[in-house]
Amino acid sequence: MAVADGVVRVGVLGCGHVGSALVRMVFEHGDLIEARTGVRLEIGRVAVHNLSRERDVPLPADRFTNDAESVVLDPDIDLVVEVIGGIEPARGLITAALAKGKPVVTANKELLANVGKELFEVANANGVDLLFEASVAGGIPIMRPLRESLAGDRIRRVLGIVNGTTNYILSSMSESGVSFQTALAEAQTLGYAERDPTADVEGFDAAAKAAIIATIAFDARVVAGDVYREGIVDVSDTDIASARDLGFVVKLLAIAEEEDGQIGVRVHPAMVPITHPLASVNGSFNALFIEADAAGELMFYGRGAGGDPTASAVIGDVVDAASNLVHARRGASLGPLERKPIRPIDEVESSFYLAVEVDDEPGVLAKIADRFGRHGVSIQSMQQHGLGGDARITFITHRAREADLRATINEIRELDEVRRVGSVLRVVGD
Ligand SMILES: NC(=O)c1ccc[n+]([C@@H]2O[C@H](COP(=O)([O-])OP(=O)(O)OC[C@H]3O[C@@H](n4cnc5c(N)ncnc54)[C@H](OP(=O)(O)O)[C@@H]3O)[C@@H](O)[C@H]2O)c1
Repeated sequence: MAVADGVVRVGVLGCGHVGSALVRMVFEHGDLIEARTGVRLEIGRVAVHNLSRERDVPLPADRFTNDAESVVLDPDIDLVVEVIGGIEPARGLITAALAKGKPVVTANKELLANVGKELFEVANANGVDLLFEASVAGGIPIMRPLRESLAGDRIRRVLGIVNGTTNYILSSMSESGVSFQTALAEAQTLGYAERDPTADVEGFDAAAKAAIIATIAFDARVVAGDVYREGIVDVSDTDIASARDLGFVVKLLAIAEEEDGQIGVRVHPAMVPITHPLASVNGSFNALFIEADAAGELMFYGRGAGGDPTASAVIGDVVDAASNLVHARRGASLGPLERKPIRPIDEVESSFYLAVEVDDEPGVLAKIADRFGRHGVSIQSMQQHGLGGDARITFITHRAREADLRATINEIRELDEVRRVGSVLRVVGD
């Protein structure tokens, strides 16, 4: 499908934070976009759920409808932007648009991380663009660098701070020494966290993004269910203080890596050395740190959410897809995605930090060291702090398999002198 007059009429599904910012941006920057790219964008129609809601967008009321399918099927609409979110009706609407030969731009991580493969196949079959820059890290351009700029390189690992809410909470625990609950309440008051924060603090949002990153970085079929996930609810202010004493900060990381033909993909809190570039990503900011064979280390930093930043990423995709339409170029979708084996978490290796509370008695340290030794986990460093009759000992191990570390912890827990094994955090980026 090509457009004859150089004007691309955009149908927007959803006019919330992202959709309304997108509509305003097309109005404000339309001339600039045309001067830069030769493409004139017009907002044709906009679908919403509630027609009576007031909207801060420069569009007449008759452009709005609550029948999203009619926008997709409207012969005057050339390109569809989906910013409703969730699985249905977004999935059906996107499929219908692609089947009609209309390119689609979406910001929907949940959809892509669960049924992306089926949508990419429909886009491929119809030779149209399905673009999704905004689905990971909002306003930070990361999908295009991974797909295009690094297409000839080999990506080894991507480390991402991809959830602004959890980064805000961990930063504020680190800066003010407050507990997780206090930092969460503050984030909710300031609008950085939802009233139900589960998707963020339990790592579900970051896991969806990790699946998309792994898919694009490694041309593999990775879904949200493949991602090993731990949230930040068990990270204590004591962990954060200990990490600082040892020269680390605690971050919720999304990690995607490929080694020996296996994909490792996980989300968990991690101790990052303060000298690592990700350690200085604070507040609600996001960043992605890429390790590639030829390019070496790269970092992308910015606003991972918010209407305007996210709309900026959406509009970049819209311009790209619109330009393909105007020039009658076949759209770019992903090639066939291979199902590569996912490395089980037990096989993953890292260094670990763990804190053990013990009775302060002679010989206890030797017993604990023996349990490490039994499972081949070697200790890199250790610190002991007295707590009256008790002591708190923190260890950092050399690289070890998760399964070996877990077996070690189980045996340490059984020692009579051990009161509690507290947090266990992986050390990443050392
Ligand atoms: N907000 C961010 O910072 C951000 C960042 C990155 C990615 N994203 C992604 O962008 C997408 C949109 O997020 P958002 O924050 O803009 O969401 P939002 O503010 O909740 O807006 C959703 C919009 O979809 C409309 N809608 C809901 N059901 C509909 C239906 N059946 N038919 C037509 N319209 C319908 C709603 O209509 P009403 O207005 O009438 O209720 C609303 O305008 C999501 O996939 C999200 O994950 C958002």
